[in-house]
Amino acid sequence: MLKTRIAVLVSGGGTNLQALIDAQKAGKNPCGEIVLVLSDNPNAYALTRAQSAGIATAVVHKKACASQAEFEQKMKEELEKSNIDFIILAGFMCILSAAFTAAYPERIINVHPSLIPSFCGKGFYGLKVHEAALEYGVKVTGATVHFVNEIPDGGKILLQKAVDILPEDTPQTLQKRVMQQAEWLILPQAAALVSKTIQEEKYGHLSK
Ligand code: GAR
Repeated sequence: MLKTRIAVLVSGGGTNLQALIDAQKAGKNPCGEIVLVLSDNPNAYALTRAQSAGIATAVVHKKACASQAEFEQKMKEELEKSNIDFIILAGFMCILSAAFTAAYPERIINVHPSLIPSFCGKGFYGLKVHEAALEYGVKVTGATVHFVNEIPDGGKILLQKAVDILPEDTPQTLQKRVMQQAEWLILPQAAALVSKTIQEEKYGHLSK
């Protein structure tokens, strides 16, 4: 059966992209295949990771676009060129408009480095999330994978995993532990789950 065609959207280092690539290579996503890595940032190291894995890359430089509408239109063109079924936001630091998310209902997922609904929404991204958790003094945090809709970090939750906060944690040590113990596990799991659902819905009849 044809596989679900996945685009991973990135902005930076791409450790979550690497976890997705490694899981795919290990046979943990039998129903999906990453066919495109798309970045808003031409200098994202995630692009190098994709190239090393032999995955096609594209850049839509957000800062060079005159408007959000132009940025999203160019991204849509890239996604359509590659016949993408499923979009994974893996450290993608841009908020998407309702017009964009409505075009892909239950076809976009995101990994967020906290237990939603804590420390999420506009302004909570990357290290800022861990700074906020430490400042608040919570003893447990974690990561969430959710569907993406028009509300930042507001779509239906797919998977969550809790991670302990230690007394000596800094934002950096906490970020690393949340990635290692939660994000890099639940993002590939969610990718496999959604790939299977889409494959069955979209390509299932072709095998009958
Ligand atoms: C990850 O911790 C990811 O959860 C977070 O940024 C980091 C990107 O790291 N994403 C957000 O905060 C989105 N709201 P990576 O580029 O190494 O995967």
